[in-house]
Amino acid sequence: MTFRTLDDARDLAGKAALVRVDFNVPMEDGQITDDTRLRVALPTIEKLRDAGARVALLAHFDRPKGKVVPSMSLKPLVDDLERLLGAPVRFADDCVGDEAKSAIADLDAGGVILLENVRFHAGEEANDPAFARQLADLGDLYVNDAFSAAHRAHASTEGLARLLPAYAGESMRRELDALDAALGNPHKPVLGIVGGAKVSTKLDLLRNLVGKLDKLAIGGGMANTFLFAQGIDIGGSLAERDMADTALQI
Ligand code: 3PG
Repeated sequence: MTFRTLDDARDLAGKAALVRVDFNVPMEDGQITDDTRLRVALPTIEKLRDAGARVALLAHFDRPKGKVVPSMSLKPLVDDLERLLGAPVRFADDCVGDEAKSAIADLDAGGVILLENVRFHAGEEANDPAFARQLADLGDLYVNDAFSAAHRAHASTEGLARLLPAYAGESMRRELDALDAALGNPHKPVLGIVGGAKVSTKLDLLRNLVGKLDKLAIGGGMANTFLFAQGIDIGGSLAERDMADTALQI
């Protein structure tokens, strides 16, 4: 597999790196209940800081559908991020525009800022080129470290990568290397485990996997569709009964 990583990025000192992370963390009463996704982003942030870049973090939280929803602000994450990083993290109330731009410009080399929820703008999920351009105006390079959001072709995960020199972050690199080790160049036999509710949203994935794996274990609600297709009584359980033929083909 060939993709550019941060090892390919040269002369990062003083550059503004726009880093797409997945900070869609579980929260309860304003508190993060699992900070794994913050920890996953640390190696990329630290590598950029060590190289003297200014780091602007782009992320989504929940599904505000293009509107400003205060309860879906990323601001409550700042304290935990500072604690984990052991460094100050600034926050900008909008992820585009003059305020974000000047806040990034004000960062010292190695400084970090978290920008407000990209999904507060409708252009994010629409992958609107004008919104992607507004994001691109904030930085010199783009780093995608949000593997778990990379299946969405949104402005901050896809459109932006077309507008700036783009690199895979450290956790993206680990995920892609792991996928390559398991599927591209595997030590046989290989078992895949897939979960989730719907067969219909994973058709391409499942069809691809069955050609590469020796065994496929299916869990989650999706398993019911396969059991139903095999004539097993699943009662009222969640299933896509109209996908039974497809499940049998898989
Ligand atoms: C996730 O939490 O699975 C990712 O951040 C993607 O979130 P989404 O399903 O709202 O796009």
